[in-house]
Amino acid sequence: MKRIFFYTILIISFLIAVAYSLYSYRQSQIYDQKMLEVIAEETPLSKYHFALIGEEMDHDYWRLVGAGAKKAALENEVFVEYEGPKRSNPEEQLKLLDMAIQAKVDGIIVQALNDNFTPLINKAVKEGIPVITIDTDAPDSLRNAYIGTDNYAAGQLAGEALVKDTGGKATIGIITGGVDNAYNQHQLRVQGFRDAIAKVEGIKIIAIDESNLTRVQAEEKAYKMLTEHRDITAFYGTSSLDGIGIVAAASSLNKQDDLYVISFDALDENIDLLNKGEINAIVAQEPFEMGEKSIELMLNLIEKKSIPLVNHTNAAIIHRNDMDMIVEKKGNAHD
Ligand code: BGC
Repeated sequence: MKRIFFYTILIISFLIAVAYSLYSYRQSQIYDQKMLEVIAEETPLSKYHFALIGEEMDHDYWRLVGAGAKKAALENEVFVEYEGPKRSNPEEQLKLLDMAIQAKVDGIIVQALNDNFTPLINKAVKEGIPVITIDTDAPDSLRNAYIGTDNYAAGQLAGEALVKDTGGKATIGIITGGVDNAYNQHQLRVQGFRDAIAKVEGIKIIAIDESNLTRVQAEEKAYKMLTEHRDITAFYGTSSLDGIGIVAAASSLNKQDDLYVISFDALDENIDLLNKGEINAIVAQEPFEMGEKSIELMLNLIEKKSIPLVNHTNAAIIHRNDMDMIVEKKGNAHD
């Protein structure tokens, strides 16, 4: 009897040890993926503590969002913790959102990547923590405001630019962040684009595939499309690194001179490709302004000043010949 008891205890201890090491391993993986930047130090003067949760911290687009938030945080003596996964990971973002609610911060600014964010946003608001969505909205949630691009309208702009630039004749491949509802902003950008080209007879979309926001997958998918559909004459890329992937695929097939490419975001590498003529047009968003205004809006909200529910930042089409209007704040991201 004693023996059975001894072995039972031994087995239970062993199982607990295994479970604990699996848990610790998972936690360390999560921790490895997470990056945190304290945008402005907490000082006795810090009026409020905000959490800003982005999609990919190791990404120039999100560095610009951080730079804008930092500017406003320093000007207003607010303590902002800027957190996010290193690489896009919606589950990790949800965890960070939950942690910010538990920490009872004074305000949460979060990119609401998909519909799974709505219940947690609602929880925060019901617990009295104001929430502003940034870059990607959750219109069905109780969020207090949204700051960012009108993603549907930006997709329309892209479609209109493509129609104009190609003289209304194109066979298009689309590379997008995601084709299901994992990434709401990309869905809207594709829908706006589809609607803008719908009535133009000479234009058709022949293929659509997802890059999962990585340049490697953008390249793989564009390569596959170009080999399967030899009649493609144009590409539309809806996420920041899609244009780079498309250009890489086109040049490895020696097709870069024959293709029209329009893609998102005025990041340095995209601008270089625009200057070289390998990307024909860019949909430039305003990530710096999003970060900056998100803090200002949150302060107004907390101080009970009324703010608009939807705050759209600009999106504009840039061609090589209007490079002068490139957002000079890009430099600030690297300060
Ligand atoms: C989108 C962001 C995304 C970023 C990086 C931008 O175009 O607005 O939602 O995180 O690209 O992929």
